[in-house]
Amino acid sequence: MSLLELDGVKVHFPIKKGVLFDRTVGHVYAVDGVSLKVEAGQTYGLVGESGCGKTTLGRSVLRLVDITEGSVVLDGTDLAKLPGEEMRRFRRRLQMVFQDPLGSLNPRQNIESILSEGMVAHGIGKDQEERREKIKSILERVGLPSNALSRYPHEFSGGQRQRIGIARALVLEPDVIICDEPVSALDVSIQAQVINLLEELQEELGLTYVVIAHDLAVVRHISDVIGVMYLGSLVEEAPSDALYAEPKHPYTKALMSAVPVPDPEVEDRRERILLAGDLPSPANPPSGCRFHTRCPWAQERCSTERPELRDAGGGHRVACHYAEEIAAGTLQRTAGEVVAATREGVEDNPVSEEAETATVPEQPGPPEQENEAEQAETAEKAEKAETAEKAEKAEEAEKAEEVEKAEEVEKAEEVEKAEEVEKAEEVEKAEKAEKAEKVEKVEKAEEAEKVEKAEEVEKAV
Ligand SMILES: Nc1ncnc2c1ncn2[C@@H]1O[C@H](COP(=O)(O)OP(=O)(O)OP(=O)(O)O)[C@@H](O)[C@H]1O
Ligand code: SF4
Ligand SMILES: [Mg+2]
Repeated sequence: MSLLELDGVKVHFPIKKGVLFDRTVGHVYAVDGVSLKVEAGQTYGLVGESGCGKTTLGRSVLRLVDITEGSVVLDGTDLAKLPGEEMRRFRRRLQMVFQDPLGSLNPRQNIESILSEGMVAHGIGKDQEERREKIKSILERVGLPSNALSRYPHEFSGGQRQRIGIARALVLEPDVIICDEPVSALDVSIQAQVINLLEELQEELGLTYVVIAHDLAVVRHISDVIGVMYLGSLVEEAPSDALYAEPKHPYTKALMSAVPVPDPEVEDRRERILLAGDLPSPANPPSGCRFHTRCPWAQERCSTERPELRDAGGGHRVACHYAEEIAAGTLQRTAGEVVAATREGVEDNPVSEEAETATVPEQPGPPEQENEAEQAETAEKAEKAETAEKAEKAEEAEKAEEVEKAEEVEKAEEVEKAEEVEKAEEVEKAEKAEKAEKVEKVEKAEEAEKVEKAEEVEKAV
C-alpha cells in the first residue's frame, strides 16, 4: 500500500445566490474525481494551468476544504471520514508549504513564536527551552542563522522566508509535505537553492512530497512521478522521465511543446502546438472530454464520452480515447496550429554578408593545438562573462531585495504609526468621556445641594 492514496476525490464549491435565502444555483467543480498514489519517500509533481484545481486538491488532502466525494487514505487511515479531534492529530503528519511565504507568516510574531505554535498545539517538546533547541537546530538545517529566532518575517528576504515556511513544517516531524508552488514567488536564482534544499531534506529525513507547480521545469527534476491536471481532473500521469520522453495526452504534448530544449539541434526542430481558446470555467465544464474544446485532435465521440484515466503502458496513465492513434500518427488533426518553436516571434538570424563571404585564414603551426588553445581561451572568456553576468544579476537581486525590505519596514512603520495615532485618539476620547462624567457628577451634586438647600429653606419657612 502507498503512503498516500486518493480515490475519486471531488471538491465541488456551491455557488450561492439570494439576499434572504442562500440558494445554491450551481457548483464550481474545482476537483472532479482525482485518484492517485504517492509512494513513501518519493515526490509526486502536480502540474496544470492556473485555476485547474491544484491548490484545492492539496488542501483537500489536509481537509482544509470539505471533500464532496472520495477518500484520502494516509498510511491506511481514511482522513475524509475522521472526526475533528482525530483529524487534528493526523494533521501533524501532513504539512503544507505555501506559495506566498510572507502572506503565510504572521507579521506580528517572531520566528520562535511562529515555529513554536504548532509544536505546542501538537505537544512536541516538554517545555519552551526544549522547543527552542529543536527550532534552533532546524533553522540551522534550512540555512538560517540562529539569531533568526527573535526576528520578524519582514526582516528576511523572500528565499529566507520560504526557508522559514519549510522549517515550520519540519518542526512537526511530518511524513508528507505538500509544497504548493514553493518557488514561484521567488527570484529564478533563489528557486534552484530552495528546490535543492527540499531534495536534500527528503534524502536526509525520508520525507514524501507532493509538489504543486504550473511550471513544468520546476517539477521535472524533483519529481519521481508527475500528474498533469486539466479542469479538476488528471489527464495524464507517468514517471517523470517517461512523461518528458513521450507525452501521450494532447494537453501534455501542448504543455511540453512550450518548454525550450537545451540541445540546440533538437531546439531547432522543436514544434510548438498552439491551443485554441482559454481554459473553460470550472463552473461550467465542457461535456465529454473536458479538453475537447481546445484539443487539436478532437473527434465527434470526444464531446459526448468522458475518457477514463486508463493504463497506456510504459507507466503512463492517460485520459484520452485516441492516445495510441495520436502517438502512431494515424489520427488527423482537426484543429489547432503547429508552429516551429524557434520562429515564434523571433526573426531568423540575419546572416551578414561578411559572414557569408568570410573564409578561414590559413593558420601556421599545428592546427589542433592552436584550436585547443583558442577553445580554452574562448571558454575562459565565456566563463568570465558568465561569472560577471551572474554577479551582476545577484547584485540586482540583492538590491531589489533591499528595496523590498525597506518598503516593508516602511509599511510596518506606517502601520505602527497609524496604530499609535489610533491609540492616542482612544486615550483622548476616554479622557474626554471621563471629564464629561466628572462635570456631570459635579453638576448633579450641585443640583442636589441646591434642592436640599431649597428643601431646608422650605422646611425652615
Ligand atoms: N473556496 C472557494 N470557493 C469557490 N471557488 C473556489 C474556492 N477555492 C477555489 N475555487 C475555484 O476553484 C478553481 C480551482 O482553484 P485552485 O486555486 O485550486 O486552482 P489552482 O490550480 O491552484 O490555480 P493557481 O495555479 O492559480 O494557484 C478555481 O476556479 C477557483 O476559482
Ligand atoms: S479524448 Fe478526444 S478531445 Fe480528449 S484529449 Fe483525446 S482526442 Fe482530445
Ligand atoms: Mg494554486
